[in-house]
Amino acid sequence: MPCSIVILTGAGISAESGIRTFRDSNGLWENHRIEDVASPEGFHRNPDMVYTFYNMRRRQLVSDEVAENAAHQALAKLQRDFDGDVTLVTQNIDDLHERAGFEGVLHMHGELLKARCLHCGTIVECRHDFDQTTQCEACHQVGYLRPHIVWFGEMPLYMDHIMQCLSNCDLFVAIGTSGHVYPAAGFVEIAKQAGAHTLEINLEKSNVHSAFHHGLYGRASQVVPEWVDSILAEN
Ligand code: OAD
Repeated sequence: MPCSIVILTGAGISAESGIRTFRDSNGLWENHRIEDVASPEGFHRNPDMVYTFYNMRRRQLVSDEVAENAAHQALAKLQRDFDGDVTLVTQNIDDLHERAGFEGVLHMHGELLKARCLHCGTIVECRHDFDQTTQCEACHQVGYLRPHIVWFGEMPLYMDHIMQCLSNCDLFVAIGTSGHVYPAAGFVEIAKQAGAHTLEINLEKSNVHSAFHHGLYGRASQVVPEWVDSILAEN
């Protein structure tokens, strides 16, 4: 029975909550160029476009359209009831794991409901629109707030801690991620080298499915609760 589990989630776990994935048909990257809205260069070239992109996504996230689903709830239940460590690393910038009750989520690609001041470095909670005219609450400078999102070419957050957890886990599970973006897509190899069993849960086989010992395929809202129940039953 594993006593230390590391879970990596991606956009697929939030798809049934009404948040579009990146690479499925009608995904976010079909309608936007990554280099325009998810890179420091794109932000420098056209900050208004980038502010608008994240303002729209934030408005949707805080609206009634979006709510956590059974998969988020099942992972929170796993954290509550499992007799061992459960670490949750997410590539998602939404707060649906937190809404379901999971504590201590590691948002390696940042958070949509936070803004970072490029002048003083303060990170603030932010549920409303902001742009070049918004004042930082901490240093009161105008024009320095940016979305607290890790863009392409930037270093993901919490990497030292994540690497330590991967090197010490007994079970690694990736849920709802296509396996196209590194370093997250390489976590399975690190966990395997450390001797962990590895499981992929996704709608379909991911880009890195062959690296996993085992795969469960279907909708996250169905497969994740079933998997959590099976782990808790063994526990
Ligand atoms: P993708 O959009 O690349 O992949 C989502 C995966 O979820 C696909 O493999 C789908 O088959 C699967 N999926 C869709 N609906 C599902 C459902 N209901 N149940 C289970 N699986 C489902 O999203 P990510 O892998 O998360 O980075 O993308 C990784 C990173 O690429 C993102 O964090 C973002 C993006 O560029 C940054 O913005 C830095």
